[in-house]
Amino acid sequence: MRKQIAAANWKMNLTFQQGEKLLDDVLAAKIRLSPDQLAIFAVPFPYLLMTRSEVAEETNYEVSAQNCYHKKSGAFTGEVSAEMLHSIAVNYCVIGHSERREYFNETNAMLADKVNLCLENEIIPIFCCGEPLNIREAGTQNDYVAVQLKESLFHLPADKVKDIIIAYEPIWAIGTGKTATTAQAQEMHAHLRSVLAAQYGSQTAGQISILYGGSVKANNAKELFSSPDVDGGLVGGASLVASEFIEIIRSLKS
Ligand code: 13P
Repeated sequence: MRKQIAAANWKMNLTFQQGEKLLDDVLAAKIRLSPDQLAIFAVPFPYLLMTRSEVAEETNYEVSAQNCYHKKSGAFTGEVSAEMLHSIAVNYCVIGHSERREYFNETNAMLADKVNLCLENEIIPIFCCGEPLNIREAGTQNDYVAVQLKESLFHLPADKVKDIIIAYEPIWAIGTGKTATTAQAQEMHAHLRSVLAAQYGSQTAGQISILYGGSVKANNAKELFSSPDVDGGLVGGASLVASEFIEIIRSLKS
């Protein structure tokens, strides 16, 4: 089975102390993950080392950055490179979240550079895609997300792309309390997998975990994750509440 993943995206929330307490509370639930399951915490940069040491003794609990810069190194004050993340043993990085695309003008081409830098530094990108409301209303969401994959990932060979985690996050469902229905999520995930299969073959496409993101909560996770092509979730708001995220981890397919 491909990996089933519950990924917390804290975004720009929580103080260091609140983050530490939240991790303690989630880990206190002592959920044993199978070899096919992962729980990932994508935390703000200043909390990466603390989070790494919190999960150090746990099996299949991982730490992720929320972003990295699209250049290797140099005079880019305030930015953080993939190489820096690698040097503190961070093995995952969220790339192309819709908030970064929208507020920081990240383009598909820049994201291709970020993906390359991550892979060069042994970091698995959690690559986000997803359409805004007007595209969904026009019914052209399938083409829209296919272009996102094509322009940021399809330069990669199959043996690299197979390790990437994809997160489908319809923008209209993020932080709105409006979740895609289980059928909408499954339909889009199957589409994404077919786009990957057309480029890389069905064997490679079948290995790639595709997470759903957008108002995942304790009370809808199990149903969303039950679909065959939904391999877990990328969770914002509900990942800030220990009891919610614990339940979401427990909702992963086993
Ligand atoms: P919410 O779960 O708060 O809707 O956020 C989803 C998200 O953007 C995760 O990256």
